[in-house]
Amino acid sequence: MQFFLPTSNRWRPPAVPLKEPPSELTQVHRPIPMKEGKNVSCAPEKPIRHSALHNVNDVVAVGPESFYATNDYYFTDFIMRIVEMFIGLRWTNVVYYSPGDVRQVATGFYSANGIAMSSDKKFIYVADVTGHTVNILEKHEDWSLSPVKVVQLDCLLDNLFVDPATGDVWTGAHPNGFKLLIYNTEDVPGSEIIRIQNIHSDHPTVTTVYANNGSVIQASTVAAVYDNKLLMGTIFHRALYCEL
Ligand SMILES: *[C@@H]1O[C@H](CO)[C@@H](O)[C@H](O)[C@H]1NC(C)=O
Repeated sequence: MQFFLPTSNRWRPPAVPLKEPPSELTQVHRPIPMKEGKNVSCAPEKPIRHSALHNVNDVVAVGPESFYATNDYYFTDFIMRIVEMFIGLRWTNVVYYSPGDVRQVATGFYSANGIAMSSDKKFIYVADVTGHTVNILEKHEDWSLSPVKVVQLDCLLDNLFVDPATGDVWTGAHPNGFKLLIYNTEDVPGSEIIRIQNIHSDHPTVTTVYANNGSVIQASTVAAVYDNKLLMGTIFHRALYCEL
């Protein structure tokens, strides 16, 4: 049994023996095995450190050296993070970073996680995992953000992806947070991929495009689409390629 905090991308996988997916799925869902121990070379040019970037979960670049970042916890102390999560403080935030100008631009999220920019670059979308919401914020010339609206979902959504062709917002979600918190090889966490169409309209269309109980893929966190092809990623499991 493993214990870990959800939403952190820093956690590394338990060795989970997995059965191959049922044969009827192999035509459309082709699991891509992750090669263990294979390092992808990615030398950081310049690490960026700042006290405001204390629990960075995700970033969206808005310039060569500027970005918005989400902090997924307010506290950095392990025990206080657990307290923060269980009493449901809404103290996590979005920070704007550029050389010489660093500030909080949004707060009030239970657990700010995925962040993405709309295809017209006018809005920033923030996923609040335990708030179960996608928060739409308008981006202003001085880089401040103002809340526009909140789309309520009923899942623990993680990262966000915006389809550049349609503007649709995609997210990987966890159907059951408890199964993530207490990892049990006999009762593994499942996966959900959600698409939100017309997110700026009064009636966005929310569709569960893919759902699995963990037999094929566990703990999905992200989906990317291109040309009717869907690639999904997870916290610690493998990637899955689907044709839509
Ligand atoms: C998960 O789904 C698979 C395939 O649909 C099924 O064979 C299996 O019994 C399910 N497992 C659980 C724990 O529900």
